[in-house]
Amino acid sequence: MFTKLIIATGNQGKYREFTEIIREVAGEDFADEIIFAPEISRMIVDETGKTYAENAMLKARAWAEKSGLPCLADDSGLEVDALDGAPGLYSARIIQGKDSDKSSWLLGQLEGVDDRRARFAAALCLCVPEEYTVIAEGYCYGSISREARGSNGFGYDPVFVPDGYNLTFAEIDPRTKNNISHRTNAFRKISAFLQPQ
Ligand code: IMP
Repeated sequence: MFTKLIIATGNQGKYREFTEIIREVAGEDFADEIIFAPEISRMIVDETGKTYAENAMLKARAWAEKSGLPCLADDSGLEVDALDGAPGLYSARIIQGKDSDKSSWLLGQLEGVDDRRARFAAALCLCVPEEYTVIAEGYCYGSISREARGSNGFGYDPVFVPDGYNLTFAEIDPRTKNNISHRTNAFRKISAFLQPQ
């Protein structure tokens, strides 16, 4: 489908995760080459949107304009019921510092709280210059554990237990996470839209 596709991120972990998701969901024919271009991420795109979708679109369009190539961007966050949906859109920014600080902050917020329901949300935007822009959202439902567990993944993975599992995202093997994650569920919609069966 695409000769070249850029993943709009400066984060190598996210690039790797996206490459696996694309190959798993849409197969080898979706893109001949999936490109990591961290030099473009130095071009600052302010995440000024009021929704994940707006932020994903800001990023995808800015990267597509800069590169002239099809670009896939995402914006995502963790929404906790007992915190009225926080940290949500501010998941990356609410705590500056190491990933483990994010998990500790969240466990502190939920100390003594029995309602642990939460979901990860992601919006993905694919922008193909001069042609089209497509956006989709995906979710992964679960709950927040009582302590941080596991060492895979990133962000809030050590405290998120997806529905149907007893393990956190940081304990589950990456293939399984990729099968059920919010980003994968959003990408499935984009892939189904572009390649109807
Ligand atoms: P952004 O989408 O790069 O703006 O960042 C969203 C933030 O939400 C990340 O920095 C993480 O803290 C959190 N987040 C999003 N998706 C995941 C995930 O799959 N696992 C753990 N944390 C996530």
